[in-house]
Amino acid sequence: MTISTENLSNVWFKVTDLEVASGEGSWITTTGGVRYLDFSGGIAVISTGHSHPEVVDAITKQAHRAIHAQANVYTHDLLQPLASRLAEITPDGIDTFFFSNSGAEITEAAVKLAKQATGRPNVVVFKGSFHGRTHLSMAMTTSKTIYRAGHTPLPSGIFVAPFPDINAEDLDAEIERALQGFDDLLAMMSAPDETAAVIIEPVLGEGGYIAAPQAFLAGVDARCKEHGILFVADEVQSGFGRTGKMFAIDHYDVQPDIICMAKGIASGFPFSALGTRRELDDRWSKGSHGGTYGGNPMGCAAALATIDILSGDGFLDNVNARGKQLVDGLNELQQSHSSIVDVRGLGLMSAAQFDNAQRASQVVAHCRDQSNLILMTAGKGKSVRFMPPLTVTSDEIDLALKALEEALVDGQG
Ligand SMILES: Cc1ncc(COP(=O)(O)O)c(C=O)c1O
Repeated sequence: MTISTENLSNVWFKVTDLEVASGEGSWITTTGGVRYLDFSGGIAVISTGHSHPEVVDAITKQAHRAIHAQANVYTHDLLQPLASRLAEITPDGIDTFFFSNSGAEITEAAVKLAKQATGRPNVVVFKGSFHGRTHLSMAMTTSKTIYRAGHTPLPSGIFVAPFPDINAEDLDAEIERALQGFDDLLAMMSAPDETAAVIIEPVLGEGGYIAAPQAFLAGVDARCKEHGILFVADEVQSGFGRTGKMFAIDHYDVQPDIICMAKGIASGFPFSALGTRRELDDRWSKGSHGGTYGGNPMGCAAALATIDILSGDGFLDNVNARGKQLVDGLNELQQSHSSIVDVRGLGLMSAAQFDNAQRASQVVAHCRDQSNLILMTAGKGKSVRFMPPLTVTSDEIDLALKALEEALVDGQG
């Protein structure tokens, strides 16, 4: 079926040309009535499955009460309940929240807060990261040149530190090398007293689903504490149960000063949140940041319902069990298919890395066209990433593994 797109911008890169009519659980149905297993999960957004009835109910009820109650003008009655719920589930010390609509807006907000709270101008990011597509967040993003090409010049004051190569033969030496690169950066490019924050994804998302090694994150954190640099965890993709804990940073012995949240927070309703400590927020001068829609009551309702579902008995156990099932299956496929060079995963943030990007995109295309399974790539196109709804079932994981095997056999990989 041909769908009309004549009045739509061409700027969107397209993974499929499918026109969606509806979604339920792990599945979407096209306007032509064909069902697809959605392991893109709306790019790691559909935490509770497509159109979870409790989320739909919460949004519907709120729509009848008020669709918009602007946060500068009013304090509506879901703002504090959501903030106090987030204080319960975010890392210790995080007790104060600001709301916005997207991931890029919240990483930008984190930089604005860090600059005002420290009085310092610069920010350190890590090679291979993705923090968004606004001008500042593009400047912080180094996962692919396409995001920057033709959009430069970008804002200054962003310095890029090395992220360790986790496949290095001597990982300890590689971590030392990366930390030395961070030290060099502070000695040669951005002095500690000019560095407001580091912003890091505990698990690189767009960069290839690569979990930062424990010793690396601990080393970065120690340097932050030594120099009064704020540690910002960008959990836009890794947060809200995706890695099998509520936040990826919970896998580490690190207490962030600021945490950036979006995507999975509201099951697909555009919503994002910044969490920090009250004393840092107090240094963010009133009126210096805001936004028309941030803290929208429909988004708050969706987020509250989402958090209830994610905190339910056994929910994260399913994420861990399904993640293990997926990674075990991928490891098994790797035994007989040499084109898979690495398999990794934390909860349901899993990836298979291929020997080249063309192979990875062939696999994605085969799964989509022959098996109705939607996947995406990451990590310079070489990795296929799996980000199903966190409610995915054991049978659905098996279906995805079978589709992948068929793609590998047909592609003789
Ligand atoms: C880690 C991370 N930060 C920020 C963003 C930007 O989020 P958004 O696309 O909602 O602006 C993304 C999006 O993929 C992300 O993965």
